[in-house]
This record gives sequence, C-alpha cells and structure tokens, in this order.
Amino acid sequence: MQHPAPSPKELDPIEIASRDEIAALQFHRMKRSLKHAYENSPFYRKSFIAHDVHPEDLKTLADIAKFPFTTKQDLRDTYPFGMFAVPQSKLVRIHGSSGTTGKPTVVGYTAADIEHWANLVARSIRAAGGRTGDMLHNAYGYGLFTGGLGAHFGAERLGCTVVPISGGMTERQVTLINDFRPRIIMVTPSYMLSILDEFRRQGLDPRESSLEIGIFGAEPWTNAMRHEIEEAFNMHAVDIYGLSEVMGPGVAQECVETKDGLHVWEDHFYPEIIDPQTGAVLPDGELGELVFTTLTKEGLPMVRYRTRDLTRLLPGTARTMRRIDKITGRSDDMIILRGVNVFPTQIEEQILKCPGLAPHFHIELTRKDRMDAMTVHVECTPDRGAGEARAAAARELSHHIKSVIGISARVEVHDPDGIARSEGKARRVIDNRPK
Ligand code: DLL
Repeated sequence: MQHPAPSPKELDPIEIASRDEIAALQFHRMKRSLKHAYENSPFYRKSFIAHDVHPEDLKTLADIAKFPFTTKQDLRDTYPFGMFAVPQSKLVRIHGSSGTTGKPTVVGYTAADIEHWANLVARSIRAAGGRTGDMLHNAYGYGLFTGGLGAHFGAERLGCTVVPISGGMTERQVTLINDFRPRIIMVTPSYMLSILDEFRRQGLDPRESSLEIGIFGAEPWTNAMRHEIEEAFNMHAVDIYGLSEVMGPGVAQECVETKDGLHVWEDHFYPEIIDPQTGAVLPDGELGELVFTTLTKEGLPMVRYRTRDLTRLLPGTARTMRRIDKITGRSDDMIILRGVNVFPTQIEEQILKCPGLAPHFHIELTRKDRMDAMTVHVECTPDRGAGEARAAAARELSHHIKSVIGISARVEVHDPDGIARSEGKARRVIDNRPK
C-alpha cells in the first residue's frame, strides 16, 4: 500500500515550524487565554484566586504548572453553563458527552471556536492522507456527541464530499459504501469491525471496497487492531484523538506516513503529562495522565484539564509538533485484579494473537468470597466454531493473558455473533461486583 501523505507545501506552515516558533505562539496564546478565562469566567476567577495565582504570573510556558487543574467534576458542579466565558447568546453550538450515568457534561462553542475546530479536523484528515475532492463516509454519531458534527465540518472544510450517515443501520452503511465508493471512512474502530462483519455477511470482499483510509478514534484501540483492519480492508488505518471538554475530535492526529502516535495540534492545545496520584508534571517520555490547556478557545476555555487518559509525550516526527503515544486507556477503565493493573487494550492485544478468535470482546468482573475474578467473553471465528478448536482457542488466550499480563482470567468463547456489536464506543468492562 502506498501512503498518500501530503507534501510539505500542502501543510499549515505551523505544522512544521521550529520548536521555538511553536513555543512563542503557545506562550502568546496561553497568556491571552488565561486572561480571558480569569476576566470572563466566574469559575476560573474564583479558582485562580483560591490558588493565589493570576494570569500575570505566567512568565514562561512551564509556569502553567502554577495554575490549578480543572476536572470533569468542575463541569458537573457548574452544570449546565457555569464555566462558560461568554454569554450564551455568543454560543453557536452546544455539545455534550454522554457519560455513564446522570446528566451529560455540557460544552459550548462560539463561531470562532467552530472555525478553529473545522480547520483542525481538516488538518487531521489531510494528515491521514485525505484530499480535497475525496468522498468521506462519516459513521461517527451525529448529535450531542462531538464525533459526527466535528468530523463533518472538518471534512467539508477540506473540500471533501461528506456522506453524513451517522452510526447504526450497519446493512445500509455497507450498501452506501458499495454504491457511493468513498475513499475515506471516519468511525470508531469497534464499529468498523461490525461493518467488516456485514461486508462478509453480504458476501462482499472488503479488500475490494473503495476505502483507502480509515480515521479511527473516540475509544482506545491497539496497533494489533490496526493491523487487523488494514489487512481486512487493504486500507490505511490511522488514529484520531479528542474529547468534548477540550474541543472534540481533532485535538491530536496520527500521520499516515509514519503511523507512530498522534501529533498534538500544539498551536491550539498545550499538553502536559502528570503523575495521576501527585499531580506533579512528568518529563516527556514518561507515562502518565494527559492534561490540556486550550490556547484559543473562547466559549469554554480549559485550564489544565485532566483528561484521565494515560499516555506519554514524544518528540515530533512527521510534524514538529509533539506526539502522544496511542492511548493505553482511561484511568477509570483500569482494572486492578489482585494487585495487577490491567487495561482492556492489553486484553485486545492478546485476543488478536489467537487465530481462532474474532476481535469482539468484553470483560466481566465478579467477586466471590472477597476475591475479584475476571472473565473475558470473546467470539470464535466462524471456521473454528467446533468444540475442540474452540476449547483450544480459550486455552491459548488464557495462556497469553497469564504469561504476558500476569493474571489468571477465565475465558468464555461464544458463537460467532454471540457478543453484542458496537455502533459507536464499545463498552469493554462490565462490572458485576457487588457495590
Ligand atoms: O470521543 C471525541 C472524538 C470523536 C474523538 C471522534 C475521536 C473521534 P468524548 O465523547 O468526550 O469525545 O470522549 C473523549 O474518548 O477522553 C478518551 O478517553 C476517548 N478517546 C477519544 N479518542 C481516542 C483515541 C470524543 N483516539 C474520550 N484513542 C477521551 C483512545 C480515545 N481513546
């Protein structure tokens, strides 16, 4: 497969500017953004005063560490609009993140915020190898979730022909891919697997489809999964990252020519990695929690927002902007089983090593006699559904989990189609332990 990378002439000059130029722009924007937050958001004014800091205290970029963190709880406490730094009449759009319980987290955008967002998603699609004139099948959900509309505006901005199909109705997704022949698909990686199944169900060869580039994100996925999807569709699979609190999709994007982690669009977002326990800033290269300060947002500026996503900061490669490693997982999704920390992505990697297993899975947690136990529910591939082949696949997976991750997990292999399919973000952990 040839990689369709853009030429340097096609990039925004800042994408390949020197580190000094990037830092100078970041400092200028950070100062302006802190001042805007302090002067216009009662929440930030109160929080800065309580921590005895003032926007004037920012003398270098590293001084951002003097400012307090912002958390999801702050958004909940000020629900719905209490953190905003502009009056509601200046907002042109609201989005929200569903969360697992109760009310959504509400975010809002001014016209200028939407403009930046569209430009950054356009930049992301270009980094993935997309071009003006490409047809783009957008299967991220439209609605309060930022995926659908965020991808949509960016794709239009780049000059793509967008098919705004949203999530769900998998049979029709496949029909439209076949009839319209899009070059690019944007969708969660887990839903891409459901689309793959549907191709096969309809007797179509996915390798013969028109798709050349997949831009997958909104949930953790592994390089093993990339390989699986790239092989199945004969396409490039690249990673897109973002979160509604900071903007939506397009905060960071992997470049198709290197596929080595995601470049943070540092002209709009200042990343830090912290120790999730102590809050101390960690040097580049160390694994910890990703924190963002927005540099241009008007509606809802974010100062040191704790994402709960775990990754590392790495130097730039295809761009001068720094990269984040593929996200290991959210701290909320970390399972501690008899003292060992486990992420669903680690289980995904082991499943993809077993030829008899399909990559549809979830993890069930139970407790008996005060002991926590993990069961991995996974499917066999249609050709290995027979009793002995299935038992062998289960043994192979528990062996890999034991030898690589170091925990004993029960493995239950279900029939093909036996695990519920995702139409958006997959739910990987089902916690049935008594509260
Ligand atoms: O998921 C925004 C998005 C939409 C990103 C479409 C990419 C594509 P939220 O619903 O607010 O926003 O969820 C944000 O999803 O904190 C991560 O835990 C997770 N996440 C997003 N992208 C990735 C990724 C959107 N590429 C939360 N890898 C984030 C791993 C991701 N996790």
